[in-house]
Amino acid sequence: KVYTDYFFDEPAYNTHDGGYIPLTTPKTAPQPLAIPPLLKPDKQTATDDYYTVRAQASETQFLPGKKTKTWGYNAGFLGQTIVFRNGKQTHIDLKNALPELTTFHWHGLNVPGPITDGGCHAPVYPGETNHIDFKVMQPAATIWLHAHPCPSTATQVWKGLAAMVIVKDDVEDQLPLPRNYGVDDIPMVLQDREFHADNQFDYRADYDPDGVQGHTALVNGTVNPYFNVTTQRVRLRILDGSNRREWRLHFDDGLEFAQVGSDGGILPAPVYMDKVMMTCAERDELVVDFGRYQPGDEVTLMTDDTPLCHFRIKAFDPDDTQLPDHLVDIEDEEPTPGLPVRKITMDGMDEEVAMDGKKFDMQRIDARQKVGDVAIWEITNTNSTKNGMVHPFHVHGTQFRVLARNDGPVYPNEHGLKDTVGVNPGETVRIKVKFDLTGVYMYHCHIIEHEDGGMMAQIESYDPAHPKTYHLMDMETL
Ligand code: C2O
Ligand code: CU
Repeated sequence: KVYTDYFFDEPAYNTHDGGYIPLTTPKTAPQPLAIPPLLKPDKQTATDDYYTVRAQASETQFLPGKKTKTWGYNAGFLGQTIVFRNGKQTHIDLKNALPELTTFHWHGLNVPGPITDGGCHAPVYPGETNHIDFKVMQPAATIWLHAHPCPSTATQVWKGLAAMVIVKDDVEDQLPLPRNYGVDDIPMVLQDREFHADNQFDYRADYDPDGVQGHTALVNGTVNPYFNVTTQRVRLRILDGSNRREWRLHFDDGLEFAQVGSDGGILPAPVYMDKVMMTCAERDELVVDFGRYQPGDEVTLMTDDTPLCHFRIKAFDPDDTQLPDHLVDIEDEEPTPGLPVRKITMDGMDEEVAMDGKKFDMQRIDARQKVGDVAIWEITNTNSTKNGMVHPFHVHGTQFRVLARNDGPVYPNEHGLKDTVGVNPGETVRIKVKFDLTGVYMYHCHIIEHEDGGMMAQIESYDPAHPKTYHLMDMETL
C-alpha cells in the first residue's frame, strides 16, 4: 500500500492563515547542499564520549553579496552534527560564546530534567561553560539540539541555534538502511528565513505571534540546494527546524519513498508514501530509491509548489536491497492501572495562546507523574476547525506512543516513538507517556512563538522514595 495524502486536516494547513508567507522559488543558481560536518569528540573510549559544544556568533554566506550575521553550534549557522551511542556515558562541555544567555536543549533525548535536558531552567551565561554528564538510554534516532531560553527560544533558533543529533545503536546497525553519513545518509534541516537589507535577518521586523516565517527556504542553511546522488538508495533524515512552517513534501514526478523512522527512532515497519507532511520539530527518516533514473536525470523534492532540493543523478552501482516488512520491535507497555487520564488543552492563537487556559510560569509545576508510571494523556487543540492551526505538541524527556486521533486510528506513520505530535484544530490526540528519569520537564506547542508566548507548561516526574526539590529559575533571577 502506498499512501498518497498528507493525513492532516486540509483546512488547517498554514497556507490558509492570514499571515501566511508563501515560499518563493530562489533566483540564485543551485548550490551544493551543505552537509554539516560530524562534531569530533574531544576524547572517546569504549564506554565514554566527551564533546565540547560551543554556541557562537559568526557570519554565513547564504546569498550573493553580504554575509548574514548568524549564530551556530561549532558552526556559523546551525551546527556540526553530533553522534551519540546508546549505552555510552556522555560528557559535554556547553560553552556560551554569545553575547547573551542561552540554554542547550536536547530535544528528544532521554535525560534528567530540568538541567541536563537544557530547558529554560538551565541557563549558560555569556562567557561561561556548563558541564553535563548522562548515559544515552534510547534506541537509534534522529534528534536535535536547540536553544531554549524563555522567552527567547524563537529569536535564538531564528539566528541559527539548532543542530542535528544522531543516536546510534546495535539494532539499527544491523538493518539494511543507508548509513554512510553525507553520502547516502543525509541530514536535512528544513527552515525558512527572510533576508532584509544587506542580506541580514531581522526577527523584529518579521515578528508574528503565530510564528515567524520567511520567503526563502533553507536546507541545512543552503538556498536552492542540489545533492549529487551517487548511490541507488539514499536515506534522508529530515527535521522541521523552522519556527512556524509546515512542510508538505513530495517529489516533482511523484516518486514514492519509504518512511523508516520518526522522532524517537526506527518505525516497526516501513510506510510507503509519495507525500508526507511535517510539523515543527518533527523528524522523519525517509529512504528514497533512485533506481528508475539514469545519470543526468534530476528529481526535485518540493514543498507544496516550491522546489526544496534538486537530486542530481550520477552513475551508481545497482542496489536492489529491499526493506524488510518488519524493522524493529517497540516495547508497548500497558498503562499503569488506576491512573486518571491527564487532559491537556492547547488554546488560542496570536497573543492569546495558552496551555490548559494558562500562560507558562517558570515557577509553577503544572502536573506531576510518578517516574516509571505509564499514563494516558489526552491533548485537545481547542482552536476552531474553521480557522485554527495545527499545534505540534512536544514533551521533553520522553518518547511517547500515539494511540488515537479523536478515538480513531492514528496516521500510518505514527506507529513509532514520537516526542512531537501535530494536533489538528478541534481534535483530541491520545498518547501514552512514561518518564524513565526524575526531573521537571516542559511540554508545549513547538510553534516556537507559541511556546515563547506561553503555550507551555511543566510536569515533575517524581520518585516518592527519593523526593527532590528542584531549583526553578524565574524571569527575574535569570
Ligand atoms: Cu524542541 Cu521545549 O523543545
Ligand atoms: Cu501552537
